Amino acid sequence: MEERLQKVMAESGVASRRKCEEMIFAGRVKVNDVLITEPGYKVDRDKDLIEVDGNIVKSFDKKLYILLNKPVGYITSVKDQFGRPTVLDLINGISNRVFPIGRLDYDTEGLLILSNDGELTYRITHPKYNTNKTYRALVHGEVDRDDIESFEKGITIEDYVTAPAEMKIIKYAKGNSIVDITIHEGRNRQVRKMCSAIGHDIIRLKRIRIGEISLGGLKTGEWRYLSDSEVKYLKNIGGIMK
Ligand code: URA
Repeated sequence: MEERLQKVMAESGVASRRKCEEMIFAGRVKVNDVLITEPGYKVDRDKDLIEVDGNIVKSFDKKLYILLNKPVGYITSVKDQFGRPTVLDLINGISNRVFPIGRLDYDTEGLLILSNDGELTYRITHPKYNTNKTYRALVHGEVDRDDIESFEKGITIEDYVTAPAEMKIIKYAKGNSIVDITIHEGRNRQVRKMCSAIGHDIIRLKRIRIGEISLGGLKTGEWRYLSDSEVKYLKNIGGIMK
């Protein structure tokens, strides 16, 4: 939603609206790195980055929704006890803190959503909502019909049996297979364990879709804001429109 710049600044606790107008006139305010001197300027508090004297204006109720194409070699956590890079190291220039929703292993790449909206986290990660997650995997050996059936029936891993999952062969490559795997659970290293259990260890693993959200043309290491319709879709998981 577009609102007047001084209103958003005031409601974010910068100063009164009148004082904020003066700051804008005085050339102290930037929006998305562009100097703005016109107080009526319209901004979207959920998307635009506002700075006063070079300091980012944080709005406490501002919800951010980000899609990252995670590279291998980053951990999905806010901090790492071993000092390894985290996915947050890849997200710069945003006005509020965000948190990874769900996790991808250090050695898994692909689609990761980050947000500060706790309700959305719940909808994407809670098993009761059954959100499909699709991974493209390069696995050792040639996958066959029996493997696909094992995935459909459920596979025993440690002390549990996985829920029915889908495996689709994309192609065979030099004695190995590229497959798309869709699961709707999210146990620790689940896809890797499922593939190992049927004798096809994973060589490379990339998440390409969560529900209807896909990476599109986003390059490895890049991020973008989710579109309004993508956020609406995610908020509607489980059927309750917000
Ligand atoms: N399953 C895995 O094995 N690893 C991931 O990172 C995600 C799903």
